Amino acid sequence: MCRDRCIALQELASPAPGPLRVDFGAGGMRHRRRGGNNELIGRAVGVTGQRTPGLLDATAGLGRDAFVLADLGCRVRLCERNKVVLELLRAGLESAAASTDDWLLQTVGRMSLHAGDARALDAQALCGVEVILLDPMFPQRNKSAAVKKEMALLQRLLGEQDNADAEGLLDWALQQDVARVVVKRAARSPALGGLQPSHCIRGKAVRYDVHVRRALD
Ligand SMILES: C[S@@+](CC[C@H](N)C(=O)[O-])C[C@H]1O[C@@H](n2cnc3c(N)ncnc32)[C@H](O)[C@@H]1O
Repeated sequence: MCRDRCIALQELASPAPGPLRVDFGAGGMRHRRRGGNNELIGRAVGVTGQRTPGLLDATAGLGRDAFVLADLGCRVRLCERNKVVLELLRAGLESAAASTDDWLLQTVGRMSLHAGDARALDAQALCGVEVILLDPMFPQRNKSAAVKKEMALLQRLLGEQDNADAEGLLDWALQQDVARVVVKRAARSPALGGLQPSHCIRGKAVRYDVHVRRALD
């Protein structure tokens, strides 16, 4: 349920999927939480019992991955360039920050939002970032009907731009002074830009390609 400033994206064509909104307090987010430290994404970015790296989620989207990582204890900077997605995300973060739920408050307290293209971030915005996460849009990978509809709507909204410059975003990320760049891919997709990662963390539907530059602190 949206608590404070509630913004939703509703397609008008018929039949249209239900409204798309960001609600970090929803059941699905709480369910993902049970994966805890074992979540593949946590392993990919290097979360351990003793270590929670500072992260930049350069393709924040609806903020789900960033929220999972913040829930694991990481400080996460989220960067989103699409203005509609940005407003959905901003509303979701504000709503969570206005909640009375301690878990939500603490988790979103570790998240900060930057508007615009990640490649325009300056050294100050990247200060403390040890890992850059990239999740450029790629053909649907999640078999859940609800997520499929959401992703299809997002894909229509974003058009081809995401696919078109994802390799450039990886090039940029690899030039930054970070310990790792992690690319989320569909399980059977080729490596982004044909660039072989140092190692992969594989799930059923997704794969994380990990480009290691140096050891994490
Ligand atoms: C597949 S979605 C990411 C989904 C996200 N991982 C989640 O958990 O909700 C990709 C998003 O990255 C954004 N994006 C793509 N390239 C970007 C860039 N260079 N800078 C900022 N945002 C970018 C797109 O606008 C889109 O919203």
